[in-house]
Amino acid sequence: MSDGVTISRADGILSIRFSRPDKKNAITLAMYRAMVEALSSIDGSVRAVLFSGEGDSFSAGNDMRDFLAQPPQDDSHPTVQFIRALPKVTVPMVAAVQGSAVGIGTTLLLHCDLVIAATNAQFALPFTKLGLTPEAGSSLLLPQLMGYQRAASMLLLGETISAVQAERFGLVTHLVELADLDKTAQAVLAKLRALPPAAFRATKALMKTHVARTSARIDEELTVFKERIASPELKEAATAFLEKRQPDFSKFS
Ligand code: COA
Repeated sequence: MSDGVTISRADGILSIRFSRPDKKNAITLAMYRAMVEALSSIDGSVRAVLFSGEGDSFSAGNDMRDFLAQPPQDDSHPTVQFIRALPKVTVPMVAAVQGSAVGIGTTLLLHCDLVIAATNAQFALPFTKLGLTPEAGSSLLLPQLMGYQRAASMLLLGETISAVQAERFGLVTHLVELADLDKTAQAVLAKLRALPPAAFRATKALMKTHVARTSARIDEELTVFKERIASPELKEAATAFLEKRQPDFSKFS
């Protein structure tokens, strides 16, 4: 356990488990740092990565307090490093998702190869509601995955989708009862472990033909995102969240 995220390695699986259930597994800078280190430590002994979360949520996305105190403004920022690392992971990435998956809690799934979701999972990308813009390549990957209009509903309107919709739209590969989430994830990992690793790494490399394009889009998104960070819209949205009130954008043009 390291500052809100539990990272372990066993039987060839690198497990990254969000462990801040009282804050819905919102991701702090310390957690990003630990995850960057974990992903950069992947060597030949790692067959797959598992993302999961403790408690009733997968992740509520960026921790608002950390985000406001130290927004991602340069390349050394742990959030930027984590986002840039995601498309470059060469081994299969699996996610087990329950409850809320918000912001990066959903965009990181776009980089996973297999997404197992409990029927209570909900996926939301409330960037515009926060005065922000998409990150982690989601402006490219989400329309590619589910079609432009469905992606627009999530990215423009910030609409939440259910686990059933997410499976129908192609974001989720395995839809299971909550009680079966861990068991199913372990069964999927056992299948991966039993396969020849060089073959599935090569297969992933062939399927992920758009890695360079994704990385380029991540950089384009960051340019726009950094401009948004200074916006009064974000200030109002984030302050409203922390003050547990509705934001008021009526005075902005
Ligand atoms: N950053 C910091 N703290 C967060 C958080 C976040 N992204 N998401 C939740 N929390 C904290 C809440 O402030 C609350 O803390 P408190 O108990 O000290 O008041 C605690 O986690 C529980 O959250 P709460 O909102 O009461 O839970 P809920 O079950 O009603 O709703 C969510 C869960 C995830 C739907 C809701 O918390 C939410 O919308 N979070 C913000 C998501 C977001 O906008 N993320 C950023 C995307 S870029």
